[in-house]
Amino acid sequence: MSIREIERACALHGEIEVPGDKSISHRSIMLGALAEGDTRASHFLMSADCLSTISCFRQLGIDIEEDRGADTVVVHGKGLHGLQAPSETLDTGNSGTTTRILSGTLAGQTFQSQINGDSSIQTRPMKRIINPLTEMGAQVTSLRGNDCTPLAISGGHLHGIDYLSPVASAQVKSCILLAGLYAEGRTSVTEPSLSRNHTELMLRGFGAEVSSRAAARSRTAGMTPWRAEVCPEPHLRGQDIIIPGDISSAAYFIAAGLIVPGSEILVKNVGINPTRAGILEVARGMGGQIEVIREYDRGGEKAADLLVKSASLHGTTIEGALIPTLIDEIPVIAVMAACADGTTVIRDAAELKVKESDRIAAMTENLKAMGADITPEEDGMIIRGTGSLHGARVRSFMDHRVAMSMAVAALAAEGTTAIEDADCVLISYPSFYEDLEKLI
Ligand code: S3P
Repeated sequence: MSIREIERACALHGEIEVPGDKSISHRSIMLGALAEGDTRASHFLMSADCLSTISCFRQLGIDIEEDRGADTVVVHGKGLHGLQAPSETLDTGNSGTTTRILSGTLAGQTFQSQINGDSSIQTRPMKRIINPLTEMGAQVTSLRGNDCTPLAISGGHLHGIDYLSPVASAQVKSCILLAGLYAEGRTSVTEPSLSRNHTELMLRGFGAEVSSRAAARSRTAGMTPWRAEVCPEPHLRGQDIIIPGDISSAAYFIAAGLIVPGSEILVKNVGINPTRAGILEVARGMGGQIEVIREYDRGGEKAADLLVKSASLHGTTIEGALIPTLIDEIPVIAVMAACADGTTVIRDAAELKVKESDRIAAMTENLKAMGADITPEEDGMIIRGTGSLHGARVRSFMDHRVAMSMAVAALAAEGTTAIEDADCVLISYPSFYEDLEKLI
């Protein structure tokens, strides 16, 4: 087991550029493979999850060049109908994004394929994609009959549907939209509120006809249902993509800069797509100081440099349509809340229970061990800030975001914190601990 010990930090100072956005990196391979011509993606995230996507598409007959030193990939696309039947089960590792979005593409193929991942993936819910793909005419079977992977998928001959998704999930939405590329007629997905829209933006950039707008139906308590629609059989053309830094990775430095007194950090080149940037709103709402220094556009994706200064934070309420815009940042927001004055309520976030770990249970156990006052709820947490934490032995639960959140908590805690299975940061941020050390 890898254990990482982290001491309390005095103050954090310096500049940091985080690796490329994970969601956009995955999609650059997926759409690059289905496009005609080459797609070059720079500032690509060379982490375990994105390498799982690369290896799956290689199994499907796509030639992908990787330059790991330069963080660049070139995907030699074969067009919408150029994938080949894999000879073995497609291994998606720990990646829910690969598993769910790739399943949508496989549903559009006439060949049969099987898809499976690691022990965590094998417990994550797949009914959310099995149902719509089946409705579109694909055969999707959970081989153990538990609505999880391994899945056997065969399809082709799909028809477009108007799908009302019970969850605001970009993985579900993207899965259906990619299947929709192969369907007869248009396909739409309406979600309870807008989840990250990288697939819609990138599909459009590659030449597909995609619309995305607030849906007319049932506007309820802070939620605006959102509808994305795609036309089938687009002529996708390879693109040059410069991937912005991942705000989900930047979140650890934002949180650390805010809670460690005397800190000032410039986080450069961070994607601030509004469907991802909820943490900035929450941090400001808690009294945090974050200055957007320079804002620019990268192929429809907004990016900026962020200057973060330490501040005394206070509690807040996080709920409704804000949740999908910061779903992966909630573990580190819980750390900020534990260091703040007053009570923070996080609700409408039951999705946390079905991520790489049950993040409500994981963060509750870990932050309690460090002296926080935290109550788990069915759809979130209530955290009463005690203003101080103490070092403890905590667990990553093999969840990269839990490990990195606990590293941030450690910086603000009295004494030493030991994180068990700390190496799981390889999933999304292989150089995380080294980058953190540069600021201490
Ligand atoms: C992702 C979507 C989110 C997020 C995940 C990446 C994506 O999952 O938690 O880390 O790239 O589409 P859901 O869409 O299921 O919420």
